[in-house]
Amino acid sequence: MNISTATRLDGIGEYYFSKKLREIEALNRTGTPVINLGIGSPDGPPHPDVVAALQAQAARPDVHAYQGYKGVPALREAMAAWYARSYSVTLDPSVEILPLIGSKEGILHACMTWLGPGDEALVPNPGYPTYRSAVQLAGATCVDYLLTEESGWEPDFEALERRDLSRVKLMWINYPHMPTGKLPSEGLFEKLVAFGKKHGILICHDNPYSFILNEKPQSLLAVPGAMD
Ligand SMILES: Cc1ncc(COP(=O)(O)O)c(C=O)c1O
Repeated sequence: MNISTATRLDGIGEYYFSKKLREIEALNRTGTPVINLGIGSPDGPPHPDVVAALQAQAARPDVHAYQGYKGVPALREAMAAWYARSYSVTLDPSVEILPLIGSKEGILHACMTWLGPGDEALVPNPGYPTYRSAVQLAGATCVDYLLTEESGWEPDFEALERRDLSRVKLMWINYPHMPTGKLPSEGLFEKLVAFGKKHGILICHDNPYSFILNEKPQSLLAVPGAMD
């Protein structure tokens, strides 16, 4: 029996890294050793204190029920304290922090929450492929914004302003940028916030590489007025 998949999967394709890792595995099997520098996977165990705490908690008989849907308050409060320490941004742990199993989950939730058929979302090209899949899964259309060496791997705001932005509701940004490693230049986040406000576009900052080879970790939310 052939039961067709939902039309929302049309054109989504396989996750880039799933395909790439399969290709690497095949090459390794044929004796071509491939050193995989393409995915930021940890190559060491967590700190022994973390492992001990996890083991001790797992052995308790009273901690195995469903969690609250927003994550435990202590975790959200610790995240808010970390955010304040790292970026000087104050977040309310009860409504402005949501623990997730990874950013892919958050990227999909954000697209499902704000986008639907007829909406457009700006996605970086080159950029992390999940933005495109999540926008498409939400039924919306991707509009690539090109990042080039000439533009310093940053959006060309003049080119963006020249196009019709009336259906654009959301823009994915990712600085420090994957795959170029570009750090945000001085004033870029201010320009992005102003651009979002001018056109009614939600700017979503995917920031997983903030602390890697970066002396100055930044959050878009630190720009005055960014959270309005
Ligand atoms: C820019 C970017 N965002 C998000 C992710 C995914 O993060 P997670 O593993 O937390 O879903 C990656 C992983 O490659 C990434 O490069």
